[in-house]
Amino acid sequence: MTDQYAVFGNPIGHSKSPIIQTAFARQTGQDMTYKSILAPLDGFDDAVEAFIAAGGRGANVTVPFKQEAFQLVTRLTPRAELAGAANTLVFKGDEIIGDNTDGVGLLRDITINLGYPVAGKRVLLLGAGGASRGVVGPLLDAGIKALTIANRTVPRAKVVAERFARLGPVIGCGYDELAGQSFDIVINATSASLSGSMPALPVGIFAPGSLAYKMMYGMGDTPFRIFAREQGAAVISEGLGMLVEQAAESFFVWRGVRPQVRPVMELLQPA
Ligand code: ATR
Repeated sequence: MTDQYAVFGNPIGHSKSPIIQTAFARQTGQDMTYKSILAPLDGFDDAVEAFIAAGGRGANVTVPFKQEAFQLVTRLTPRAELAGAANTLVFKGDEIIGDNTDGVGLLRDITINLGYPVAGKRVLLLGAGGASRGVVGPLLDAGIKALTIANRTVPRAKVVAERFARLGPVIGCGYDELAGQSFDIVINATSASLSGSMPALPVGIFAPGSLAYKMMYGMGDTPFRIFAREQGAAVISEGLGMLVEQAAESFFVWRGVRPQVRPVMELLQPA
């Protein structure tokens, strides 16, 4: 029987995961299907159980179910445990294993696809939700100089910073505290762009030659992109590479085969 995979979310119509995973499967000759499943806001667990009962082998989890996925799993990989969030599930017998491929995906896109070195860099991470937590560990592991996590709700940023403090130099603060500071890499991990807005950032935070990276991929010019361009960021990414890289890592977790990301990035690139 063909192996079945899916992405769970609400809403889910915007998800590019089925296109990406189907392209990976075709490219590597894997016998599998991948579809999107709209789970009711109060029915994530039931939707997953039903999928497993119907023969599901694994899944991705997107907004707003990442925390619930974290609760549902029977076992976590070390990187998911560290992140406190799971975006990839593996169904194996009675086990539901939770993994997190976001951090690896972001680092691979920045260092390999964009060719932007991270070692020794001053990094600013905007947001303190699950998306943000998923990338803190891998960023600190990559040998950055220092990480500042800024969030609208300041205590959340401080909690995340404390959680990762043993891994490297990291502090949490509010957006207004960024005034007068500049960074080599600014990563937007907030969901503000989903509502067409951006965090209230002071001017001057982009150092010469800096990289502006938006983690939530979406079409069109966003306020963050426009702000980064006006403020002199040298490299601006809307997060397409991370989207494809985290999917490739999930595919590798499920199938043990590493697909090529470039052809799939080209497939999705807006003309
Ligand atoms: P996720 O798991 O996808 O990160 P989340 O846990 O709901 O989702 O976190 C969303 C993040 O985006 C939070 O950091 C949130 O800030 P608060 O913690 O202050 O709520 C941030 N965010 C969402 N909308 C925002 C906006 N309009 N301006 C600034 N930050 C915003």
